[in-house]
Amino acid sequence: MGSPAFLTIKIFLLAVSYSWVSSVTASVSYDHKGIIINGQRRILISGSIHYPRSTPEMWPDLIQKAKDGGLDVIQTYVFWNGHEPFPGKYHFKGRYDLVRFIKVVQQAGLYVHLRIGPYACAEWNFGGFPVWLKYVPGMVFRTDNEPFKAAMQNFTEKIVNIMKVEKLFKSQGGPIILSQIENEFGPVEYEIGNPGKAYTQWAAKMAVGLNTGVPWVMCKQDDAPDPIINTCNGFYCEGFFPNSNTKPKMWTEVWTAWYTAFGGPVPHRPAEDLAYAVARFIQNKGSFFNYYMYHGGTNFGRTAGGPFIATSYDYDAPIDEYGIQRNPKWGHLRDLHRAIKLCEEALVSVDPTVMSLGRNQEAHVFKAQSSCAAFLANYDPTYSLNVTFRNVLYELPPWSVSILPDCKTVVFNTARVGAQSSLMKMIDVKDVTFSWQSYNEVPAAADDADAVTVVGLLEQINVTRDNSDYLWYMTSIKIEPDEGFLKNGHYPLLTVMSAGHALLVFINGQLEGKAYGSIDDPRLTFSDNVKLDVGINKISLLSVALGLPNVGLHFELRNAGVLGPVTLQGLNQGKIDLSGWKWSYKSLKGEALNLHSFGGISSIEWAEGSLLAQNQPLMWYNTNFDAPGGNEPLALDMSSMGKGQIWINGESIGRYWPAYTAHGTCNACSYTGIYNETKCQTNCGQPSERWYHVPRSWLKPTGNLLVVFEEWGGDPTEITLVTRTAESVCADIFEGQPSLRSWLVESGKALPKAHLSCPPGKKMSKIKFASFGLPRGTCGSFKEGNCHAYRSYDALEKNCIGQQSCSVTVASEVFGGDPCPGSNKKLSVEAACS
Ligand code: GAL
Repeated sequence: MGSPAFLTIKIFLLAVSYSWVSSVTASVSYDHKGIIINGQRRILISGSIHYPRSTPEMWPDLIQKAKDGGLDVIQTYVFWNGHEPFPGKYHFKGRYDLVRFIKVVQQAGLYVHLRIGPYACAEWNFGGFPVWLKYVPGMVFRTDNEPFKAAMQNFTEKIVNIMKVEKLFKSQGGPIILSQIENEFGPVEYEIGNPGKAYTQWAAKMAVGLNTGVPWVMCKQDDAPDPIINTCNGFYCEGFFPNSNTKPKMWTEVWTAWYTAFGGPVPHRPAEDLAYAVARFIQNKGSFFNYYMYHGGTNFGRTAGGPFIATSYDYDAPIDEYGIQRNPKWGHLRDLHRAIKLCEEALVSVDPTVMSLGRNQEAHVFKAQSSCAAFLANYDPTYSLNVTFRNVLYELPPWSVSILPDCKTVVFNTARVGAQSSLMKMIDVKDVTFSWQSYNEVPAAADDADAVTVVGLLEQINVTRDNSDYLWYMTSIKIEPDEGFLKNGHYPLLTVMSAGHALLVFINGQLEGKAYGSIDDPRLTFSDNVKLDVGINKISLLSVALGLPNVGLHFELRNAGVLGPVTLQGLNQGKIDLSGWKWSYKSLKGEALNLHSFGGISSIEWAEGSLLAQNQPLMWYNTNFDAPGGNEPLALDMSSMGKGQIWINGESIGRYWPAYTAHGTCNACSYTGIYNETKCQTNCGQPSERWYHVPRSWLKPTGNLLVVFEEWGGDPTEITLVTRTAESVCADIFEGQPSLRSWLVESGKALPKAHLSCPPGKKMSKIKFASFGLPRGTCGSFKEGNCHAYRSYDALEKNCIGQQSCSVTVASEVFGGDPCPGSNKKLSVEAACS
């Protein structure tokens, strides 16, 4: 009787009865088919929006746009270092008002997936760990270590308790339906073995013991202990399955593209491939997916991790850094979501039957009692194919999935974009001009009264505790008149080895050179001949940190700054090692004076007019300006500057570094074939980031203070304020293309339409391009092909000019007859908005 088959049946029955019991008693539970909310199995569509990466004033609009895009759930990490900057001193205000954020989501009628972590990763400074944790005695991060576990438990409990007090868990009637403990710990556990396994067990038990009444997930954690659900993160997850068939198949990070690093190109992921990946996941039993990121936002202040993560965390997400829908991505995914939801009943009721339709083609059919949904997939990256499914012929474009909510009608194909695209432009705000003043941050020297002197080189984060990016390392050397180099002119070679991340070298107050690492290797070596004179020479090294690492293990061992050796070669005595000399340390004077704030700027004399410093290192700049009218998002064009930081009214916009141009490969990009983060990049040879978001809500109507600290030297007079706006909108629609509207409204009869709409307050002023036939190119660069209907413009001009939005049917008769019978024609159109 104890045979394995019998046991399996028994376990199965237990599981079934358990899930039935749990679905009626608890408000959120799950089984192998999905998350169950109030007794209903759901297909849940989620998107990541990290609350501190936008302003509270932006949250309602972002969440409304997420809802309009078809999302059910908003997912966010909880950012420990933002909430507990000092041990036991908590901060939950402004951008860190987590409860307010969750309530905004609740008010919009959406759910929340709260990734408490408290380790986040997320390209966030130190992965979300407070830097003070590094200095707790005995601390070893993310393993079976008592000090770490105690701190982690303390913060996790703190967050769970706040949520409970505010009644935010679904079990209490709130919006939180899921939580997460840890983040992608599986690969770390694999590396460290037993202590990692023990830590996983502990973390799971600790989390479950908090009795939130909603399920927990662990992402990338194949051995997640029951009842915690292990989930997938990646560009594709159709082949992933959880570690037990009592758990649903969930994808917690559908990467919508990738992050940008200073010095790296900007990644993009085509909407067609993203939709294809999601459709494949759903057709293969997936029931929850979350876009990472749905709105990436901005790494304000010094929150960027890495090191070298850029200030923009745009991520090529469906809602861009500025809070505007990125089209066609946003619209194409909205259409995908509608199509999936039309299939929801069948999807949650049964497992699919999979049939081959060709060598690289499959049908996944969900046939339930009263519903039937089918997904027809063509995995071939090159060829379009005609397949027969239930006696009907369907054309499948390469690398695409068609969705048939009735097993008959194609309402959506992942490679056929029905949504409009927009061409966004950054346009100078003409009526805002800056009148700059400058202040020179004089390089510090070892004999400065307020410098601290010790023997040897100190690790930078230990000194600054990450309260600043900057630390001066200073020493001096006496040159005797008999030094050979004074006669032969071969100046000595100074070599400085640093753990990172950037360095400026001053000799006797003069900039001698700079060095910096990269996201691939933060370390740097400065090595150059330096001009030394007879007598005392001051060596001043400004070491600059660029965000602390956010990935991996042993955060306690991470370091930065000039760790040495520092050597000087070419003196009479040969090569000397300065590492063990006396070194003095100091912070930036401008930071000590609070020059980024209203209070600080009035404490010193500034230069202006003809005395304004330009293209000189270590310069503070300030100017006043009035807020421009309108409500379009704002940014600063920093392309004339080198490297530094920006503040508006005392709030830090973040680090800027347009002088670090993007190294990498930027090729033409096709949506077909496996995507990875280096496939579709732009900006090669240009600044990785040129524009820096200025949140509208940080501005007053008049008298705003803009402060810039420039490290390398730049021209502030060329900095401009710009607005981000849709200059034109485009549609690119095939005749016969599947149309949701045709299924929903006109029972399969309607022809596809091109829909165009300008941003609120703008109208279509000109049809810049229109061609029905075989046009080529993309929005902004369409060209006529060798087939073009001669009346292509007429219908568009008639229906669209002077309108905010319009639509035109895509069919030969609308454009004066078929210009090339037998070919698969499309309409490409670009309309200017003004
Ligand atoms: C994941 C991680 C996220 C984020 C992402 C890359 O592995 O869980 O936090 O870092 O990579 O953007």
